[in-house]
Amino acid sequence: MKFKLDASNIAKQKTDCVIIGIFENGDLTPSAHALNKISKGFLQNLIKNGEFQGKSGQTLLLYAVPHVRFQRVLLVGCGKNAPLTARDYRKLMHASINALSNTKVAHVATFLTELEVEKYEFPWKIKHAVEVIRAATYRFDRFKSKKEPSLHLKEIILYSPEDKATKVALKQGLAIADGVEYTKNLANLPSNICTPTFVATEAKTLVKEHPALSIKVLEEKDMRKLGMNALLAVAKGSAQNPKLVCIEYHGGPKKEAPIAFVGKGITFDTGGISLKPADSMIGMKYDMCGAATVLGVLKTAAELKLPLNIVGVLALAENMPSGTACKPEDIVVTMSGQTVEIMNTDAEGRLVLSDALTYVERFKPDTVIDIATLTGAVVVALGFHVSGMLSNHQPLAEDLLAAGQESHDRIWQLPLWDEYQDQIKSPFADMSNVGGRSAGTITAACFLSRFAKKFRWAHLDVAGTAAMMAGGNDRYATGRPVPLLIQYLIQRAEQKDA
Ligand code: BES
Ligand code: MN
Ligand code: ZN
Repeated sequence: MKFKLDASNIAKQKTDCVIIGIFENGDLTPSAHALNKISKGFLQNLIKNGEFQGKSGQTLLLYAVPHVRFQRVLLVGCGKNAPLTARDYRKLMHASINALSNTKVAHVATFLTELEVEKYEFPWKIKHAVEVIRAATYRFDRFKSKKEPSLHLKEIILYSPEDKATKVALKQGLAIADGVEYTKNLANLPSNICTPTFVATEAKTLVKEHPALSIKVLEEKDMRKLGMNALLAVAKGSAQNPKLVCIEYHGGPKKEAPIAFVGKGITFDTGGISLKPADSMIGMKYDMCGAATVLGVLKTAAELKLPLNIVGVLALAENMPSGTACKPEDIVVTMSGQTVEIMNTDAEGRLVLSDALTYVERFKPDTVIDIATLTGAVVVALGFHVSGMLSNHQPLAEDLLAAGQESHDRIWQLPLWDEYQDQIKSPFADMSNVGGRSAGTITAACFLSRFAKKFRWAHLDVAGTAAMMAGGNDRYATGRPVPLLIQYLIQRAEQKDA
């Protein structure tokens, strides 16, 4: 699917289909107005007769509108005639593409980009149009013997001025969509295919495609030498070998300290000996979304040639119960030297991350951000709409919050205050890996914070946002928080310019 910017008005467009907005009170957007004129009042008549109310998200596909050269015209309701919120703009964009999903339309020009959006200008509208349209047309049918009817959409023309800023926005939108799709494709794979070894091989393939990337994969024996006993304890019950994948992206000056991303990569989380109930296991193939996100971010960063140095570390293991699995009350010495009493083998994410965070110290990172489907508690606190964020450095937290708004891949900060640290005390080891029923997301972050003392660090708990994991048929990876993290990197690159 190709995207093009085009500043010519609707009268000059040549395409199969145009998408135009209509407000709820019958007000026409500029292009709807123009088309109404060309069609000698056809649209206004239709609205007057009550055929289309303009309710936000409503769509109506018209065929052979008189005097109009496009075969089809798609009307999209825009609600009240006022600047749209970011969310509404994205919603309308999504609805408009969905409305074309069972048609033969191959070439389309959308004029929804002319709608006013609170706070945002054309570059933002272009970037988000691309991301939303690519998400609306994403399919994962690798394992369907009968493929869903393929989309006919080949070219999308976005009504927009063609200047430097909109061209950059288009490029960024496309690269973000590539990263998001990469992450979704990997995350959507079942765990009988997507094992730690499989992810490591995928990572190698990605690295081969981009000369600015290099990779090192640590095997079990390497991890043993380094004393990564927390990560190894999680992997112990599984027939699958754990892997620690380290990828470096060099886009900045050689000596510049990198920004590091650490991803939780549990390719399946049964809970281990603290076994999950059957229903709670559904969606646990998505417990590697943190790792998949790190790969998606690296892909996009490389595509955009961001002038930064980046490190990505994936902590890959499978959490299984077996005769060789670690057990409740087992004590391990982590790579940092701190000891942990494993009170619940289902709190495995923080165990693999603890050693990965210690490992990342060797890159002398400027900033470390970990991404993890870490706690069910974050879904209780924030639902499926925003990711939880905790940090030991407030300016970093604020940069991430801003990136969340701009990318619409939003996050919300939770406190990391000392009071909560008491909850992870253990009578036998330096800490327990669980902190009781209350504030589960915060106590998980407290645990991680003990392995993140040597750098500015933020933790993203994406258990509610990386994938829809509710049972039933509504299960899919979202590719989040790739857009958030790319926006953060873009901001970092801009700060360097300034
Ligand atoms: N992978 C889960 C967290 C999770 C839950 C992700 C639901 C997505 C949806 C994590 O490893 C886990 O099991 N956490 C436990 C922690 C508890 C044992 C302290 C949880 O949230 O119940
Ligand atoms: Mn678990
Ligand atoms: Zn888990």
